Amino acid sequence: MSRLAINGGAAVHDGSWPRWPQWKEGELAGLTAVLERGEWGGFDPVVHEFESVFAERLQVKHCLTAVNGTLSLVAALHALGIGPGDEVIVPPYTFIATANAVTLIGATPVFVDIELETFNLDVAAVAAAISPRTKAVIPVHFAGLPVDMDALLPLAEAHGLAVLEDAAHAHGSTWHGRPAGGLGHIGSFSFQASKNLTAGEGGALTTNDDALKDRLWGYINQGRTPGGAWYEHGDVGSNLRLTGWQATILLSQMDAFDVQLARRMDNARRLHTILAEVDGLEPLRWDERAENHAFHLFIMRYLPERFGDLPRDRFVAALKAEGVPCSTGYPMPLYMQPPLQAPHARVLDCPATEQACAQAIWLTQNMLLAEPAQIDRIGEAIFKIRDGIDELR
Ligand SMILES: Cc1ncc(COP(=O)(O)O)c(C=O)c1O
Repeated sequence: MSRLAINGGAAVHDGSWPRWPQWKEGELAGLTAVLERGEWGGFDPVVHEFESVFAERLQVKHCLTAVNGTLSLVAALHALGIGPGDEVIVPPYTFIATANAVTLIGATPVFVDIELETFNLDVAAVAAAISPRTKAVIPVHFAGLPVDMDALLPLAEAHGLAVLEDAAHAHGSTWHGRPAGGLGHIGSFSFQASKNLTAGEGGALTTNDDALKDRLWGYINQGRTPGGAWYEHGDVGSNLRLTGWQATILLSQMDAFDVQLARRMDNARRLHTILAEVDGLEPLRWDERAENHAFHLFIMRYLPERFGDLPRDRFVAALKAEGVPCSTGYPMPLYMQPPLQAPHARVLDCPATEQACAQAIWLTQNMLLAEPAQIDRIGEAIFKIRDGIDELR
């Protein structure tokens, strides 16, 4: 049996996975065109062009771009009329931006548990957490899988809650054929460097509601009144405008987007087939109601008891040494971060979140852009470690 790479043996993979971001001549030509047009801020026509393309793709009436996917959430909460005294339900297993946005607007995040099989909000737990102060829920379509919107949307409607989708991981994902980010009252996207559609930084908001669109536009533009005079500021607001530089990159990135989406899904299916043979590494469920899954992350749960009680960190170190970059993800639930602890937040019992933090292993989306034969190497590395487990003790 070959020696494990962590102990000096040859690695299964040379560690050269597809780089991210990727770009071609289109991005260069677009940047030059912005440069030459001379409108270097947020009013270059390509900003609106990208917004139109993205709105059509999302099957929504309106898309407005913003500087990033954190302040887009803040803008959305403002547009929904949420502020001090209000509660907003969020998952504790997400990037901190989701909860920070609630705190920044002066409202109180309410942390509700996730499902262990998907790492998405547990809608039954959401139902149990609703109080008279609850005004909204932020379903994060974690890693790209939409939250169970069949259950969440009617629940929200019954309680008069706004649904703000955090679709930062879910570019291209669908739920019953409808794009994630176009399912609730407002959808929020991030185009930060790691995201499946990126301009380095950036964000977008989507909605079918004309009044919400006007309030969002106002917040992004210093509280200006849509259609009003330049110095007419009917609301509080900020400057959250995306630049033409970013919009032209995003527009060009759309050219490769569908091919990349399909490839990630094909390779995720391949990885699911491989992992079906591995007792103790459980990939998160791919719900059949999500025909398209962005796979911003490919996540497995590591069950040490099936690996002779080998600690997860040791397994991950061995996998990395075999040339498979991976991480253990969020080390703790969000409600353990000082600004998000009670009394700054209301925290419900979240045993699944705590387990997720202890068990997760993440692979990033760029790895799923590799050739299928490279994906098979991931399986080989896992089998090699499992067979050589005694070397790790
Ligand atoms: C789930 C989630 N929401 C929001 C954000 C915030 O986006 P941004 O970094 O563009 O502010 C991120 C990631 O960055 C995220 O992963």
